[in-house]
Amino acid sequence: MTSVVFDTVAHAFGDRPVLRDISVELTERRIGIVGANGSGKSTMARMMNGLILPESGTVTVNGMNVAKNKRKVRREVGFIFSDPDRQIIMPTVAEDIELSLTRTVGDKQVRRTRARAVLADFGLADHADQPAHTLSGGQKQLLALAAIMVLGPSILVADEPTTMLDLRNALMLRDVLAGLDEQVIVATHDLEMLTDFDRVLVMDDGMIVADDDPTAAVAFYRSRMSS
Ligand SMILES: Nc1ncnc2c1ncn2[C@@H]1O[C@H](COP(=O)(O)OP(=O)(O)OP(=O)(O)O)[C@@H](O)[C@H]1O
Ligand SMILES: [Mg+2]
Repeated sequence: MTSVVFDTVAHAFGDRPVLRDISVELTERRIGIVGANGSGKSTMARMMNGLILPESGTVTVNGMNVAKNKRKVRREVGFIFSDPDRQIIMPTVAEDIELSLTRTVGDKQVRRTRARAVLADFGLADHADQPAHTLSGGQKQLLALAAIMVLGPSILVADEPTTMLDLRNALMLRDVLAGLDEQVIVATHDLEMLTDFDRVLVMDDGMIVADDDPTAAVAFYRSRMSS
């Protein structure tokens, strides 16, 4: 079982406290994080793979202290952002996946075959030779996700992965995420995405103010935001 554990994590940017003594153990397969703008979701997400290190307290991924094992942790935790343009590196779709495979698959021909198979899994088979920058936003996000998942992480952290996608692509991305065997932790404003999640955290001003099943957590969030 995979786990991400925050132990009394506090963080400030300058003199603005952003996380206030967060302690939480995340082991469920699908976990959502919701909350108002600026409540600390992205900061928390980024701590899960060492993009931000906590000022105090510890974040532990699969038993490893993130601050002390950044490289190993990054092999365990794949991370996707809202903007897929930031994550696509190579000229064509297939090449982008092949690049991800270079560390694990030595043979170029095998890499090519494997890349095609991966693209098929992510609904991109017909786009293999297309210049990556000409993909639609949703297709780019699927490509970014495919390029991360072929690296073999045990946990995927996604920060607002559907924000730039239209409804069709958001639904497609949701389906692909739902089909993953890995642990998935998603910070999002896309509340519908969370319907069949196992657990949802609600953040407010750097604190976890609710931690519940999706229905209860989202109801709590809605009532808090409208009061
Ligand atoms: N690099 C930084 N320097 C200074 N302040 C920062 C930095 N990154 C984040 N902050 C501040 O930390 C707070 C939390 O930001 P964070 O990005 O974690 O919020 P969020 O919950 O992801 O919000 P959103 O829903 O808008 O994405 C905000 O007040 C933000 O302005
Ligand atoms: Mg954010």
